[in-house]
Amino acid sequence: MPALLPPALEPFLDLLRCPVCRARLRPDRVSLRCPEGHTFDIARQGYVSLLTGIRATSGDDAAMVQARNRFLSTGRYAPVHQSLTRMTADALPAQGTVVDIGCGTGHYLAGVLDQLPGTRGLGLDTSARALRSAARAHPRAAAASWDVFRPFPLVDQGVDVVLDVFAPRNPSEFHRVLRPTGRLIVVRPIERHLAELRGQIPAMVTIDPDKEQRLQQALDPYFQATRTQHVEYTTPLTRQEAIDLVGMTPSARHLTHADLSGHGSLPSQVTVSVLATSYQPR
Ligand SMILES: C[S@@+](CC[C@H](N)C(=O)[O-])C[C@H]1O[C@@H](n2cnc3c(N)ncnc32)[C@H](O)[C@@H]1O
Ligand SMILES: [Zn+2]
Repeated sequence: MPALLPPALEPFLDLLRCPVCRARLRPDRVSLRCPEGHTFDIARQGYVSLLTGIRATSGDDAAMVQARNRFLSTGRYAPVHQSLTRMTADALPAQGTVVDIGCGTGHYLAGVLDQLPGTRGLGLDTSARALRSAARAHPRAAAASWDVFRPFPLVDQGVDVVLDVFAPRNPSEFHRVLRPTGRLIVVRPIERHLAELRGQIPAMVTIDPDKEQRLQQALDPYFQATRTQHVEYTTPLTRQEAIDLVGMTPSARHLTHADLSGHGSLPSQVTVSVLATSYQPR
């Protein structure tokens, strides 16, 4: 029953591999299946569950996904989005393939695909809640559950751009799946990011100043940076936006909803400060 295969997933059948035995996957009713019989359900919401029988160590819960969906739809991060899209456009050939690692709700991947007709996109994330959104984010965006710390269910050298936006990283797997001409694009916060919120909410996770150096050390055996853009600006923030911004960060795990909504003073503006870097494989 091929009609059950989400249209965005079909172009990825050549790129996906069985996570158990590395064989090709074929559609089989409401699942993907390899010749050995390893079977992976396609959820009603349109993403394929490749992470079966494995409990992921991390991933956003429903409340975090809701907060992220609400906040990103305000457009407050639009300059970050634009910078990422421009970098991706510069790196992609026509009919290119983008894989977004830790894609969350699929917001960034959808924006990239919107600007780049002919491009196909795949979002990977451990969070089923996030994937429900990601699978619907764009007609050319497929979505699958996967844990970035495990070998990716993808062929060698089949991807033109790997995106990693505020998400965990696996440099050796990024390198394996990218074509030699491909690019890894990493967006990450630096010290001043959301400083006003961090000032008000001590439980918020701080950004370790050594983090940037650790990132470069981890990537260095596999990648060389070709271009970095510092995106920094101040954006106004409503109270709900401030609550969502905290609710969608890892800090949310340490804070109860009452902590947030009962919080008296929240900043009415906040600094956004991120680096976007394009890396070429060594
Ligand atoms: C801070 S969010 C960023 C989401 C999205 N890239 C964005 O910027 O809107 C981090 C994402 O990584 C996912 N994640 C956490 N641990 C992961 C893992 N081990 N493998 C894959 N995804 C993971 C979370 O579920 C979450 O969607
Ligand atoms: Zn198999």
